[in-house]
Amino acid sequence: MPCQYFSPCEQGADTFTVMMPKLTFGRGCLSELGERAKGRGFSRVALFTDPFLRDGPYVDTALRGLKKNGIDVAVFSDIRIEPDDKTFIAAAEFLRGGNFDSVVSVGGGSSMDTAKAGMVYALYPAEFTDYLGPPAGPGRPVPGPLLPHIACPTTSGTGSECTSVSVVRLSDLNTKFVLGSPYMLPDEALVDPACTDTLPANVIASTGYDLMCHAIECYTAKAYTRWDRVADPNGRTLLQGANPWSDMSARRALEIVDEYLVRGVSDATDSEARDQLMWGATLAGMAFGNSGTHLAHAMSYGVTHLMEDVTTEGYRVPSPFVPHGISVMVSAPAIFRFVAEGAPERHLEAASCLGAETGGATGGDAGEIVADKMIRLMRDTHAPNGLSGVGFGPKDIKNLAASSIRQTRAINNAPRIADQRDMENIYSAAISYW
Ligand SMILES: [Fe+2]
Repeated sequence: MPCQYFSPCEQGADTFTVMMPKLTFGRGCLSELGERAKGRGFSRVALFTDPFLRDGPYVDTALRGLKKNGIDVAVFSDIRIEPDDKTFIAAAEFLRGGNFDSVVSVGGGSSMDTAKAGMVYALYPAEFTDYLGPPAGPGRPVPGPLLPHIACPTTSGTGSECTSVSVVRLSDLNTKFVLGSPYMLPDEALVDPACTDTLPANVIASTGYDLMCHAIECYTAKAYTRWDRVADPNGRTLLQGANPWSDMSARRALEIVDEYLVRGVSDATDSEARDQLMWGATLAGMAFGNSGTHLAHAMSYGVTHLMEDVTTEGYRVPSPFVPHGISVMVSAPAIFRFVAEGAPERHLEAASCLGAETGGATGGDAGEIVADKMIRLMRDTHAPNGLSGVGFGPKDIKNLAASSIRQTRAINNAPRIADQRDMENIYSAAISYW
């Protein structure tokens, strides 16, 4: 590869794999669902959605399309936002009892993730933690293929339609872990930006932070050549580190954030901005589905684990609740100040894609330039002011670090490795930014 970042490394991987669903993008493409499903031979569909979308227009479009094409469908909507193991187990029971030959998901990451994970436990029953990696479980591989799955996202952040992972909150531990397998990648995605027209501004902001962090974490992740070579190519995870494929889509996603995030948040009628943000989320999903995220996502898990007495306006969920994108964003400027020294050139390039002025900057400036740009975006889109904006203070720092240090795979995908003390320092620096 021409780029020095991917220079060969002894014992390091010398190949990378790209996996993508067949993907259709554009306003109105959700109405293609029935024909798409019929074309794939679906006859009895399990449709996953959340309770807020169940009686709304997008699920109605999906159901009408399926039924018009003679496809039988049953709906599962008992999905909490940011689902837990109980949600996944209930989804598996629904699938097991329904004689389904296929799956459709309509919704945000929670609906798509529940569809993917529900199939794993329906088809290959096991102790819940068996398929989770250490320290949550032994990381047993998912044994084989799942049902064919068409994913239809309705938010512009998660990118779950392009990834082979589901995020689960373990209810006993009240903390999140990633369940992943190449078999979990949806077969097809219908990405219809019209589904974001009715989202309130703060949801566009939160999902926009998620897409930005997916993209910049992919671009600055440890190079795939720095991960150990895997003897069995079938055993290669798709979370394989930065690679030329993920670079390409991550860079464009960052440019889209710069050009359209503030516009999309400020003006609900700016359909060009919302279309572009949906495309950016898809691009970032294509990137992180093949590279994996790193420290900003790892350290968001401590935030969702330990949040108390906090909800975010615009989300119809009980307290405590911090939307995923905000849980990632509140620590991100402090995190990038820390990790940039592991790959300063990459951080300058990412900052440039985000619209920051990098002329004359040296590698030593990279972290500050990225952080400064992120903080400006946060202020311009009315984000909480760091951890203090979502209810955390200095007394919480040690517990936050002790929680997030368990996210070993993501931590090891960062260009600079953080230990628990480093995480405490980063969280301390993330209490407030202005
Ligand atoms: Fe995310």
